[in-house]
Amino acid sequence: MTKIKSIWSCKECGHKQVKWTGSCSACQQWNTFEEEEPEQIERFEKLQPNPSHPLRVKEVQFSQVRRTSTKMVEWDRLLGGGIVAGSLTLVAGDPGIGKSTLLLQLAENLAAQGLTVLYVSGEESLEQTSLRAARLGAKDDHLFLLSETFFSPIQAAIRRLKPQVLIVDSIQILYKAELPSAPGSVSQVRELALEFMHMAKGSGMSVYLIGHVTKSGEIAGPRVLEHMVDVVLEFEGDQRQGYRLLRAAKNRFGPTDDIVLFQMGSAGLQEVRNPSLIFLEERNKELAGSVIIPTVEGSRALLIEVQALVAASAFATSTRKSTGLDGNRLTLLLAVLEKRMGYALHHNDVFVSVAGGLKIVEPAVDLGILLAITSSFCNKPLDGDTVVMGEVGLGGEVRSVTKMEQRIREAVHMGFARCVLPERSIQGLPSDLRNKIELIPVASVEKAIAELIP
Ligand SMILES: Nc1ncnc2c1ncn2[C@@H]1O[C@H](COP(=O)(O)OP(=O)(O)OP(=O)(O)O)[C@@H](O)[C@H]1O
Ligand SMILES: [Mg+2]
Repeated sequence: MTKIKSIWSCKECGHKQVKWTGSCSACQQWNTFEEEEPEQIERFEKLQPNPSHPLRVKEVQFSQVRRTSTKMVEWDRLLGGGIVAGSLTLVAGDPGIGKSTLLLQLAENLAAQGLTVLYVSGEESLEQTSLRAARLGAKDDHLFLLSETFFSPIQAAIRRLKPQVLIVDSIQILYKAELPSAPGSVSQVRELALEFMHMAKGSGMSVYLIGHVTKSGEIAGPRVLEHMVDVVLEFEGDQRQGYRLLRAAKNRFGPTDDIVLFQMGSAGLQEVRNPSLIFLEERNKELAGSVIIPTVEGSRALLIEVQALVAASAFATSTRKSTGLDGNRLTLLLAVLEKRMGYALHHNDVFVSVAGGLKIVEPAVDLGILLAITSSFCNKPLDGDTVVMGEVGLGGEVRSVTKMEQRIREAVHMGFARCVLPERSIQGLPSDLRNKIELIPVASVEKAIAELIP
């Protein structure tokens, strides 16, 4: 084999090739190729697999994936049945959201099952981490802490201890001395992630990497990090609210877009088994501008309260603000209301928000938002035992939404008596549902308003 003289790698997508080109053939970005260090080139050559032969799909030998329970029912469900041995997971979230807390709790739960767990803390001293551990009640003998930012001592500790689970807090703070760039830089993060990936795949150790999120909400570091890992979990929520959402953005071993709701307390994060209950807890049924909407996050249906406030504007230009909902969608719904119902909303400020600090993007909430605005505008509360769902088209028509049965079952489960839904969606619903809740099909915005706010 001829010796490769130089390797060029794309800093955007990590694609490697032996000569420089202006644009990357993998990601089509321009001027992204950087020449790699000679030490890395040798490793790249070693990584070249032995020539392998194509196999028939049924001839491929495989063993069942080994999964370990997190001892948290909802989290196991999110992962598709527990943590897979040899998997690489990235947990990303805003500063101070509770990433270290969450993973220290996970570490304790795994250690309590007899797994050797190594928690590498680069951002905090051992004392800081052990203080948190004491607060969370993490004291199992199988849980080891290491405060280190250089990669080689971490690697040595892993070789000695041979942990079954490794937690790295965080990938952006670790540092490989062989590379000239600073911690958190694209090449450092990519190199380190590659090292941890080889460790995970080679030894069957499950690795959890904590990652930072940039100001714009993206996971810091190169996109290639998200490609490399098996699972990406996004930890989000409002700092001021006690609730945190863990979302599976990518999962090679289970469903995606599923969520788990946690509540932050002094003893750490507690799973919320019945999220609808939490979000409806503080609701006032007699309040104009409040609507309950069944929404679906992944495989979970939950009821949320959307509140609207329409108030006369003090200035020539009115304000439209939404919290937890898409602002463009709000503008569109206001235009539909003005056109179809003739409401003079342009003289009013309109505020819409989802109670509890959740973010909802699905269009199934359209009709609910629209009714909340109407209710506030007319100052008439909606019936407190009714839930509303449906997408609203530009013509004021109410369009069908997915996972209808699941949404209605959640409303029944939470004791609601009536459900306003798109006319098209009523076909195909199981007949037992009709005995449990009154279904009110509507085809247009006018019909929905006439039905609920006469
Ligand atoms: N005694 C306490 N009682 C209630 N909540 C607490 C307590 N101590 C910490 N917290 C919560 O934990 C959060 C910090 O958690 P943690 O340090 O795990 O976050 P992090 O995401 O790892 O932060 P960083 O980005 O700084 O690493 C705080 O914002 C607070 O909400
Ligand atoms: Mg932390």
